[in-house]
Amino acid sequence: MSTKRKVWVSRPLFPDVLAHLAEYVDLEAETVEGTRTPAQLKAKLADVDGAILGLSERVDAGVLEGNTRLKVIANLGVGFNNFDVEAMTAAGVLASNTPDVLNESVADYAWALMLAAARRVSASERWLRAGHWPGSATRFDDWLGVDVHGKTLGILGMGRIGQAIARRASGFDMRVLYHNRSHLPEQTERECRASWVEKAQLLRESDHLILVLPFTPANRHAIGAPELAQMKPSAVLVNIARGGIVDDAALAVALREKRLAAAGLDVFEGEPSVHPTLLDLDNVVLSPHIASASEDTRHAMARLAADNVLAALGLGESARHPPTALNPEVMANWSD
Ligand code: DGY
Repeated sequence: MSTKRKVWVSRPLFPDVLAHLAEYVDLEAETVEGTRTPAQLKAKLADVDGAILGLSERVDAGVLEGNTRLKVIANLGVGFNNFDVEAMTAAGVLASNTPDVLNESVADYAWALMLAAARRVSASERWLRAGHWPGSATRFDDWLGVDVHGKTLGILGMGRIGQAIARRASGFDMRVLYHNRSHLPEQTERECRASWVEKAQLLRESDHLILVLPFTPANRHAIGAPELAQMKPSAVLVNIARGGIVDDAALAVALREKRLAAAGLDVFEGEPSVHPTLLDLDNVVLSPHIASASEDTRHAMARLAADNVLAALGLGESARHPPTALNPEVMANWSD
């Protein structure tokens, strides 16, 4: 019988990262995507020392109940609202996420969505692909979008990703406003060329508003009908943060009634389901939660998750020093 620690990877992952893990542990890696019921997840976790999970898997007290073997769960994402970290700490399970390695790629993607929504890239492409162009030359005043350069960019949530988004704005000669619970240090504000404003001012003055908030119960529907009503009808809203931060039903109504020019959405309330009205509208660009999905960044995220698991299990180069643990204090109570 193997004396190696056992690790389960709940979704297909890059072969080189799996090979690296397999050098140290007895590895069970899923080869097809799939969602598990809490009971299935609980049964899987009962049989392993460590696991790497995706954002759709929710870890709470129920899933961990009675588990005396599990030491670590690494999340494949920076946002960890799928983890009840308090319950994990109580169960003695180390939690980790993947901060920093994705900042620049997610910032690139926020810009991609903003530009695509503002300049109607998806809708005009659909029209072209449907064969409408030949025989119906585009009118001079067709496909008019909203400019990005020279406008006011608003950022709600100014952590490291928000700052990376802001830094890109100087190339577009934009004025940058942000709202965050706390002000950035002056030096960082200067680097980002960004000014702190109250949320109401941010809503009122932004021509393009990008949401980069973590999902917490307090942030649920941070952008709902009352907030949308304060925005300019010519504004573009981008959500690359988490579903549920925007009230998608209220957003769909505002977009349908042209009380907002356009939106770019990578995340949705109740994803992978998408509000049916959003699917029908042409002034919204939709993507399936892929803001961090560049070749390099997803590799870096997978490697970081693997490093956290190995380190927590006392293996690999940074044994016992998981690089991005969310609750490193649990390790003090481990006997092995
Ligand atoms: C994250 O890491 O939280 C992102 O949403 C993944 O794309």
